[in-house]
Amino acid sequence: MADPAPEFPTSLVAGADPHRAPYHPAVTIAEFLRLPVARRRPAAARAATLWRAAWRVGKTHAFRLAALYFAVFVLSVLGVLLFVYWMSADFVERQTEATLDAEITGLAEQYAQGGLSALVQIVAARSQGNPGDSMIYLVTTADGRPLAGNIGNWPAGAGLAPGPLSFTIETGAKGQGETHPARGMLIVIPDGYRLLVGRDISDAAAFRERVKMTLIWSGLLALGAGLAGGAVMSRNMLRRVEQVNRTAERVVAGNLSDRVPLRGSGDEFDQLAGNLNGMLEQIERLMTGMREVTDNVAHDLKTPLARLRARLELALIGGADPAAQTGAIRAAIDEADRMLATFNALLSIAEAEAGAGRDRTEPLDLGELARSAAELYQPVAEEQGFVLRFESAPGVTIRGDRNLLSQAIANLIDNALKYGVGVDGGRSEIRLSGRVGEGRAVLEIADRGPGIPERDRAAVFDRFVRLEPSRSTPGNGLGLSLVRAVAHLHGGTVALLDNAPGLTVRLEFPIIS
Ligand SMILES: Nc1ncnc2c1ncn2[C@@H]1O[C@H](COP(=O)(O)OP(=O)(O)O)[C@@H](O)[C@H]1O
Ligand SMILES: [Mg+2]
Repeated sequence: MADPAPEFPTSLVAGADPHRAPYHPAVTIAEFLRLPVARRRPAAARAATLWRAAWRVGKTHAFRLAALYFAVFVLSVLGVLLFVYWMSADFVERQTEATLDAEITGLAEQYAQGGLSALVQIVAARSQGNPGDSMIYLVTTADGRPLAGNIGNWPAGAGLAPGPLSFTIETGAKGQGETHPARGMLIVIPDGYRLLVGRDISDAAAFRERVKMTLIWSGLLALGAGLAGGAVMSRNMLRRVEQVNRTAERVVAGNLSDRVPLRGSGDEFDQLAGNLNGMLEQIERLMTGMREVTDNVAHDLKTPLARLRARLELALIGGADPAAQTGAIRAAIDEADRMLATFNALLSIAEAEAGAGRDRTEPLDLGELARSAAELYQPVAEEQGFVLRFESAPGVTIRGDRNLLSQAIANLIDNALKYGVGVDGGRSEIRLSGRVGEGRAVLEIADRGPGIPERDRAAVFDRFVRLEPSRSTPGNGLGLSLVRAVAHLHGGTVALLDNAPGLTVRLEFPIIS
């Protein structure tokens, strides 16, 4: 009557774990919302302040970014944790399954060989075995009388249908014993005998519980760390934006020399602060420059105006002598002409600096331009005892404004004639030379006078600057200012060099082919 070995089900896992305790929070959300306000917020004002601060942080772009990253972070942590939990639970489950499987296969073999008596014998033997291995055996008759096994009677909660089942067993002495969950398999042998093979799964359940708790705690920790990190990050960003804002407010209020503090970390905020500071510096420089120019104009026109007034007064007083009157009026007209010239020069400089006339440019030969200027000045130079030499290579072509460039060259020749007197009093050579060098059009005007000391070479380009030895010569200190403005307008440069002795002014412009 050897029956085929009872078939083992593919899995013991069926449905949710009935031994898992449901989660009961200490206070549900509904209960929390019903709590009296006073209990939740002992200092309402403080809470309001906190709320406003949180609202302000929450509204920032930084916080939203942090929150987005945080959500992704929490989702991935949750995913990993769930996966770990599922893997470990599944592993324990499989182990129980495999043990039961092996046990049932062994018993089925015994039954197949020796029938019921062999099965009872082996079950009795195994039941004596190591109680630590947590296996459960029971063989009963059809009416439920136990024949062999390590539990006294049919466990509560275990049905009588063959197949996998979950049940509980009592362990330890009566009264102080514990109830353990167990999984098992009921096999009905022909003639109504029943074999129950099971396993106490309390250890596995405890293990699973521990894994679950570990995962919940690490999840909470990750949540806390993420929230705190996000809050700190956005607060940090907010503070630095606030610094920029406050500096901007102070600058608008009139404190132009205020700057955004730098951290020295070189991050985006530092770069932004650096750029803003650079911008503020530029604005401050321009403002200061403008104020200086206005001051200088006012100051430098005051003297000629006073002179003009004095001359006219003189003409009025000296009414008796017509010759003196005519002389005074003529002097007054000269004074007015000089002032007009100064104004014209100032306007030309301002125009050139503003980039006006850029559309009046045309291709022109710098050498030709210099030649005509030299020819124009030749008689004056000879009259004053100078030798004015000119030389130029062909093809020194640039794009430029003919009038402005001629004016600039004339200013330089005029300077050479005024200040290029040799130290020994001898009137010497002035050289104009044009050439092409390193892809640039170069024009040099050189004299053999005293030159300009190195330390003054930057200053003489500023408006109204005249060096000490030149104060007695006529001039307004605007000639070199116009030269520089014209050079810059044409994308070129102007440099003062030592001609040993004398001054060389070198103009360089981008060349066109
Ligand atoms: N060739 C030169 N040699 C020596 N000093 C010069 C020469 N050109 C200009 N300077 C100095 O630079 C100053 C500024 O020149 P500029 O702007 O042309 O004004 P201005 O000729 O009206 O004095 C002059 O007053 C003079 O002191
Ligand atoms: Mg001059």
